[in-house]
Amino acid sequence: MELKDKNVVITGAAGGIGAAMCRLFAAQGAKLVVADLDGPAAAKLADEIGGVGVQCDVSDEQNIIDLVERAERAHGQVDLHISNAGFASGDVTHAASASNETWQRNWDVHVMSHVWAARALLPKMLERGDGYLLNIASAAGLLSQISDAAYTATKHAAVAFAESLAISHADQGIKVSVVCPQYVATNILGLMSDPKQAEKIPGVLSAEQCAAVILQGIEKEQFLILPHPEVGVFMERRGADVERWLGGMRRYRATLADESGNIDLSKIFAP
Ligand SMILES: NC(=O)c1ccc[n+]([C@@H]2O[C@H](COP(=O)([O-])OP(=O)(O)OC[C@H]3O[C@@H](n4cnc5c(N)ncnc54)[C@H](O)[C@@H]3O)[C@@H](O)[C@H]2O)c1
Repeated sequence: MELKDKNVVITGAAGGIGAAMCRLFAAQGAKLVVADLDGPAAAKLADEIGGVGVQCDVSDEQNIIDLVERAERAHGQVDLHISNAGFASGDVTHAASASNETWQRNWDVHVMSHVWAARALLPKMLERGDGYLLNIASAAGLLSQISDAAYTATKHAAVAFAESLAISHADQGIKVSVVCPQYVATNILGLMSDPKQAEKIPGVLSAEQCAAVILQGIEKEQFLILPHPEVGVFMERRGADVERWLGGMRRYRATLADESGNIDLSKIFAP
């Protein structure tokens, strides 16, 4: 899809990958609806790029219905909806230790928000035989995020839901993409958010680099968009021999543990 003059809605758009997509897509001539939990930050970015800012909590279905209506009032039919909002919280101790509230929030933000957006948009998209749903999952949705079981499980579910959308509706004119980045220098990592710093760390992309790969994927209407191509290699290894892959992940996890056995994720980025 070419983005010029298209009505593009992006959630979680006030920072990180979402903000980078907003700036890049606006420069391509798209009309942006910048949605985020942080309303003032969304409004500020919308002012900067000539879009519409909307305060929206994607963990609430009515908020998504209202967002779609707001986008339609502002720019007409929604051509491309990007479910990007996300967060990470990590396991407290063992793999089932995060609270029920944390698990539920992961389900709502990483999975149900994609379902609710599709539910709000698909009837009209199917009627006109055109429309694009793009969901930001994660490499954790194809592989695993060490020490964040809720993030990993829900990102896997996000990939599975995107596959269902593509299988059911691609032949009816609906374009579907799922994006599975590995590490991108944003606040979600909690470790670094300076793209200049990120460029120095092997394997870490800046949000702008990630957005550029997503744009290429949208132009090609590609289902699986991998900003880190090596993720495709790891997927193949996992598919070929899951026992071996799990052994490798356990060995990798052990390298991230401190003396008391706690996982120190900052070691992932240690030189
Ligand atoms: N940064 C990475 O390394 C990485 C890797 C893989 C996948 N991702 C995914 O990319 C997406 C964007 O994350 P990011 O890295 O830009 O992080 P980020 O923290 O910079 O941005 C996330 C944005 O989502 C918003 N948000 C959070 N909860 C929300 C809610 N309930 N409703 C509306 N907005 C909400 C936040 O306010 C924030 O602006 C997420 O889905 C994340 O899981 C990130």
